Amino acid sequence: MGFLLTNVCWENLYLSRNPLVERKGIISVKKITYLILILLLAFSLTGCFEKKADDNLIGVAMPTQSLQRWNQDGANMKAKLEESGYRVDLQYANNDVNTQIQQLENMITKKCKVLVIAAIDGSALTEVLRKAAENDIQVIAYDRLIMNSEHVDYYATFDNFQVGVIQGQYIEEQLGLEDNAGPFNIELFAGSPDDNNALFFNGGAMSILQPYIDAGKLVVPSGQTEFTTIAIHGWKSADAQARMDNLITAHYAAGRKLSAVLSPNDSLAIGIITSLRNAGYGTADKPYPVITGQDCDKPNVIAMINGEQSMSIFKDTRTLAEKVVEMVEAIMKGEDAPVNDTETYHNGAKYVPSFLCDPVYADVNNYQELLIDSGYYKESDLQ
Ligand code: BGC
Repeated sequence: MGFLLTNVCWENLYLSRNPLVERKGIISVKKITYLILILLLAFSLTGCFEKKADDNLIGVAMPTQSLQRWNQDGANMKAKLEESGYRVDLQYANNDVNTQIQQLENMITKKCKVLVIAAIDGSALTEVLRKAAENDIQVIAYDRLIMNSEHVDYYATFDNFQVGVIQGQYIEEQLGLEDNAGPFNIELFAGSPDDNNALFFNGGAMSILQPYIDAGKLVVPSGQTEFTTIAIHGWKSADAQARMDNLITAHYAAGRKLSAVLSPNDSLAIGIITSLRNAGYGTADKPYPVITGQDCDKPNVIAMINGEQSMSIFKDTRTLAEKVVEMVEAIMKGEDAPVNDTETYHNGAKYVPSFLCDPVYADVNNYQELLIDSGYYKESDLQ
């Protein structure tokens, strides 16, 4: 640019001092020079902006729009990152692993600086994360741990084991197990086997419930307690409903009382409730069992208000989004991101430095304060 300016000045000087040069000729040479100058300036400015924008681009890959929570997670994170001056490429993959991999590849091509990923299948991203690392892109696993890759830089989540513990404790308290009440019949459900969280939820809940099963205070009439038997692939409501239908037909048809169902999240709880309602539960003679959940999805909070679901875990997605924005900011400054756990989440390749937020439970007694007064939902959302 400096070279060009010098050239133009020299040329102007030369032209203005040379009486032999025709006036018309002077203007056209000048005009062309200025035009070139303006064009070059415009190109270089656009280039600068593009570069700046590229330097600021954060990729956010979410699993699906079909569950309320991921829509909120995505929207909250996009809003908070944009408030902090970043551009965001937010993608949902319709729960399809290959779509998610393609989206991540696009983000790498677009030169995102950080990838925030809630994996569909935690074990399917090893190759694409290798490409991210080759391009100096840092990776934050969002909510779900990404397995079998050393290229997961951070993990931000709610304390997944604690989620299960709170669900187990809720059942324990509602049935009065600590006061030696029982025996009670219970059925157990677990989440998707390709989601590492599902194992933690189950581990946490069983850390509370297993001693009561061992002591005969909780009885599982179906005998189905193994994770692989009780897991619902893809967290599908319809599959949870079908399994509950089978359990009712096979083990509760003769009027045996069902006192509790351990459901790891809200999408399963919806299926379980539908099955129980169809089988005539929800009357004075046949009340709903204690049913747990997680996410405080709107239909589930309504089900809590209606006395169908007993509790749900509240994971305030605003808190998690804020934490991830802090992590992104630290990474962009070349600093270490804030973590509070370095020894719980081993992904098969390494312990991933993690930040664990605190989950709490919501039920009919505290949802007003927790969900409405806090501005998470409007009263009208729950009608
Ligand atoms: C999340 C839960 C969610 C489930 C199904 C888990 O990884 O932690 O909050 O209910 O996936 O989407």
